[in-house]
Amino acid sequence: MEQIQEIIQHKAAEIEELLKKYLPREAGLQRTVLEAMNYSVLAGGKRLRPMLMQEVYRMLGGKGREIEPLMAAIEMIHTYSLVHDDLPAMDNDEYRRGRRTTHAVYGEAMGILAGDGLLNLAWETAMEAFSLCVQEEQSPAEKAALLQRTARAVALLARKAGVYGMIGGQTADIEAEEQEQVSMEQLLFIHENKTAALIQAAMMVGAIMAGANEEQIRQMERCAYDIGIAFQIQDDILDVTGTMEELGKPIGSDEKNHKQTYVTLRGMEASAREVEQMSREAMEILEAMEGDSGFLQALTASLIHRRK
Ligand code: IPE
Ligand code: IPE
Ligand code: MG
Ligand code: MG
Ligand code: MG
Repeated sequence: MEQIQEIIQHKAAEIEELLKKYLPREAGLQRTVLEAMNYSVLAGGKRLRPMLMQEVYRMLGGKGREIEPLMAAIEMIHTYSLVHDDLPAMDNDEYRRGRRTTHAVYGEAMGILAGDGLLNLAWETAMEAFSLCVQEEQSPAEKAALLQRTARAVALLARKAGVYGMIGGQTADIEAEEQEQVSMEQLLFIHENKTAALIQAAMMVGAIMAGANEEQIRQMERCAYDIGIAFQIQDDILDVTGTMEELGKPIGSDEKNHKQTYVTLRGMEASAREVEQMSREAMEILEAMEGDSGFLQALTASLIHRRK
């Protein structure tokens, strides 16, 4: 357990270095928004989505550098979603990743603009994968195949981050605050879209870029669904049982916002069991796949009892 935590931390630090290469220089008249973008991305964070993307890519035989801009892009999208999620009009939270939220430091307008800036920068960054995947020594057929994979990966990322994914989930999450009773079906829609969708994008982009077959891509979608739902249930658990020191964000945010969660619907014990069960299912899918899934299984296991 100790050892796996060290490996995870090492990989997160590597991802952080990679991210820095794609972040903007703080200059020009728009400097404030650039500072706010860097502030939110470089605040730390588990870097789970780029890590999943990279590890699936490796597991399925991917070796190129063209995965790198896509890893940076998904973390930018994830960070923008957090910056906007914390805004007064949404969850209205003042702490994130161990420091004051972007809007709390730079003001609400800059919080909105920094999120917008990150989302646009994400697409600009993702497009760099196209130039990286075409190299001199490749045959025209190889080049065409790689370009096609990249186009599919970028489109999938856009879909899962958008109104049929993360933004759709956030919409349902916000509207549910006003409701007396939220059904389990509704809650699963929220969890699947606001959280699992981006984790699916991470793992499916890794698979697509590695040249996986359709069956492998489907397995990744299922596996990431399980990891994503378990991840959000654990997030809901930690909103009750965590500490701000460990989490780097306030606890009790869900109660404050009248959010019904897995914990309010099913209770703490059943929620913890569900996290464990869905994580085990994800690990079984990984186990059954071709390639060395050792690290991905250990990473999934480590999320079951995560405290942050
Ligand atoms: C927080 O995501 C938002 C959820 C989807 C629950 P993370 O828990 O991955 O946040 P960071 O990136 O580590 O800050
Ligand atoms: C947010 O879920 C998921 C996003 C898409 C940002 P939460 O609102 O529960 O995430 P936290 O607890 O603020 O990180
Ligand atoms: Mg929220
Ligand atoms: Mg929130
Ligand atoms: Mg939460």
